[in-house]
Amino acid sequence: MRALWLFLAMALCAVVIGVSAVAYGHAYNTRMEQARSALFTFSDAVYSAGDPERGESVARAAGCIACHTDTENGGALLAGGVELDSPFGTFVSPNITSDRFSGIGSWTVDMLAQALLNGRRPDGKHYWPAFPYTAYAVMQRQDIADLFAWLQSTDPIQEASPEHELRIPELARVGLGLWKTLYVPVDYQPDRFSGRGEYLVEGPAHCAECHARRDLFGGVADRQLSGNSRGPEGASVPAITAVALRDWTIKDLEFFLEIGMTPEGDFTGGHMAAVIEQGTAHLSSADRQAMAAYLKSPANGGFE
Ligand code: HEC
Ligand code: HEC
Repeated sequence: MRALWLFLAMALCAVVIGVSAVAYGHAYNTRMEQARSALFTFSDAVYSAGDPERGESVARAAGCIACHTDTENGGALLAGGVELDSPFGTFVSPNITSDRFSGIGSWTVDMLAQALLNGRRPDGKHYWPAFPYTAYAVMQRQDIADLFAWLQSTDPIQEASPEHELRIPELARVGLGLWKTLYVPVDYQPDRFSGRGEYLVEGPAHCAECHARRDLFGGVADRQLSGNSRGPEGASVPAITAVALRDWTIKDLEFFLEIGMTPEGDFTGGHMAAVIEQGTAHLSSADRQAMAAYLKSPANGGFE
């Protein structure tokens, strides 16, 4: 009998602690989101200034095209359907074409900013972090305005987004407020970066999402690019810190980000090939050079 009481008391404590943690996380995260939103409020003037051509380059750098286009099965640009395996199940990227019903054609630039900076759906719910908003949280306002202009200019494709196939319940989205307090960077001030290279690598190009270790809750704990032995689809992802890349020159890296060839003359495969083919290959050479220079700088860690 005493054992039963003890068990019930412990279970009650666990529930109280769990609920308080989620509530605290929710409140703290909401404050952070409001702060980010306040910095990034769009006026109509900014929105109309969005440049679709520049926006396409942002979409390339940020991997939006690679992850939202089912190239392997001949899917239409941005119509979704790419499967992302994870320990939590399979996420499937949604349709983000300009179709008003199955895509995001009816969205405003503020809705896009809320999705990218705060991981929030227009109805207020949290997105799963398979959508790498942990990296996009630092995106610059002009980049988002340009990205929006480009997204709206793409062909509308009417094709319903497939459902995710997850091992965790849909209800777990509620706990993501707490999760975000751990993994969405708090220091989102646009001037936190030393220059364009660091901004691209750490922000939109989200290299850490694959090249950094993940912890028990699936988050990128420290954003060091020290490699991940269990990357996407269980493949090992190499370290790309300045130390790990000591045998590469800045030119080698620029070339790699353009055509995917390593200094030894091997061509990269799998996920990195997609990052390059649909992303970095289409950037300006100035952007590739800035990324390469940052990767080789002492600021990019000495860990392996
Ligand atoms: C690693 C893959 C990946 C990348 C890269 C990615 N997304 Fe996504 N995106 C997803 C997934 C998965 C979801 C669904 C999340 C959910 O259901 O909670 C999503 C959701 C979205 C949504 C919400 C759509 C809706 O109907 O609510 C938008 C908008 C979006 N992404 C735009 C972008 C843009 C713009 C970029 C580039 C800056 C981008 N995504 C990059 C995987 C990705
Ligand atoms: C979707 C996951 C993913 C993303 C995002 C990603 N990478 Fe990679 N990267 C990989 C994988 C996997 C490999 C190993 C490929 C292979 O074995 O051929 C790799 C290899 C590399 C290499 C070669 C390293 C070596 O020692 O051979 C470099 C350099 C590199 N990535 C740089 C980057 C940069 C810079 C970014 C950000 C713009 C980035 N990667 C983003 C998955 C990714």
